[in-house]
Amino acid sequence: MSETAELNVGGKTYTLPVIEGTEQERAIDISKLRAESGHVTLDDGYGNTGSCKSNITFIDGEKGILRYRGYSIEELAVRSTFVEVAHLLIWGELPTSAELQRFSNMLTENSMIHEDMKFHFEGFPRRAHPMAILSSMINATSCFYPELLDSNYDTDSLARQAANLLSQVRTIAAFAYRKSRGLPIIYPKLEYKYTANFLHMMFSHPYRDFPLDPEAVRALDLIFLLHADHEQNCSTATVRMVASSKANLFASAAAGVCALWGPLHGGANQAVLEMLEAIHREGDDGSRFIAAAKDKNSGKKLMGFGHRVYKHYDPRAKIIKQACDEVLARLNKSDPLLDIAKKLEEAAMKEDYFVERNLYPNVDFYSGIIMRALGIPVEMFTVIFAIGRMPGWIANFKEVAEDAKGRIYRPRQIYTGKTLRSYVPIKERGQAGS
Ligand code: CMC
Repeated sequence: MSETAELNVGGKTYTLPVIEGTEQERAIDISKLRAESGHVTLDDGYGNTGSCKSNITFIDGEKGILRYRGYSIEELAVRSTFVEVAHLLIWGELPTSAELQRFSNMLTENSMIHEDMKFHFEGFPRRAHPMAILSSMINATSCFYPELLDSNYDTDSLARQAANLLSQVRTIAAFAYRKSRGLPIIYPKLEYKYTANFLHMMFSHPYRDFPLDPEAVRALDLIFLLHADHEQNCSTATVRMVASSKANLFASAAAGVCALWGPLHGGANQAVLEMLEAIHREGDDGSRFIAAAKDKNSGKKLMGFGHRVYKHYDPRAKIIKQACDEVLARLNKSDPLLDIAKKLEEAAMKEDYFVERNLYPNVDFYSGIIMRALGIPVEMFTVIFAIGRMPGWIANFKEVAEDAKGRIYRPRQIYTGKTLRSYVPIKERGQAGS
């Protein structure tokens, strides 16, 4: 007999089904609770709430495990590429060579944005944050390709939309960067692969191609791959939320970019670099910053530390930390911020505050050091995260769009405001606040 849970409330007992995932994680299914008992559950920040069933990504935060479609992140990081992983996430399987060729060709064919979209970049002020440009332009994409907005989502139309979005996000990102620097736009080259093309569009001169270092291309490809999906984080849950209303893929992904931007989420990579720079500038050995991060009244946190799900070292951070040393050595570069970051980690790991709360470095703690070594400016760090996360967002969008029985996402609340009162005409409201 399948397991059940019992809930005793208001003198009545309700029997709730317990469901189990393929990795034996268990959940109490409360989907009929309100109808049967009149109660909802309250879970601030959704820390205990499974919002969906998904077969894309598995995380065991206690053990530090991350798998895409069953493949460990450690193995993919060493043996795969971003485009291959994008195929895996979106279509469920690693591609055969013919499938990879077809997928790559579709990305190449879609790499150019609609020529009229170029004029939109001119409307943004020079100092506009590239994340604002990215979300606006992704949303705007749907205006330029109305033929892509087929809401039937058969495999072919989804493949076209996915290729368009995945390919154009990097073109839009590079154009946003060039715009912020007042530089002329560089078009993608048909002969370059995904990540090389992005670096080309970022750094080439109109009359002289940027010399592409294979080490740099591989390092950025690894960063994209490590960010490609992370189950129901804030931005992916946002994408699913928007998708559940049957909004299109571009609108859903643009919302994901907005959710990612915040410093508690993807924006942490920019915040980490700014923190390390400040520590360096102020000649702090890290101890002053750690003391401030422990003090709840300081308003400071150790950026790049802590995670809602990982109560162990983030496996992505482990890979990136090791890659930092290797990439800097191969590119023949050194960075004082890497030493500061390592010392900061060492010092934090000796503090009861961080140990007791299981606060370890997350993916954002070391990724900025690699991006800096590649010449990527700090305001583009979260954009790089967004490009990397696109396959995960598309895969999650697809899961929602293909779920024929799927309902619109619509959480409940516990209202804590005023109870019913009568309207007071303005002349009787007194002078307060005038
Ligand atoms: N520095 C100092 N204290 C921290 C930190 C930190 N980075 N992170 C958590 N804490 C404290 C927190 O104040 C709380 O203390 P107490 O129990 O005394 O109230 C305790 O640790 C538990 O934290 P929490 O607030 O329950 O954690 P959360 O799950 O709500 O938030 C987090 C997770 C990632 C938003 C948070 O750890 C944080 O703000 N970290 C810094 C920002 C950051 O690096 N974000 C990137 C996350 S990884 C990339 C991604 O996927 O977004």
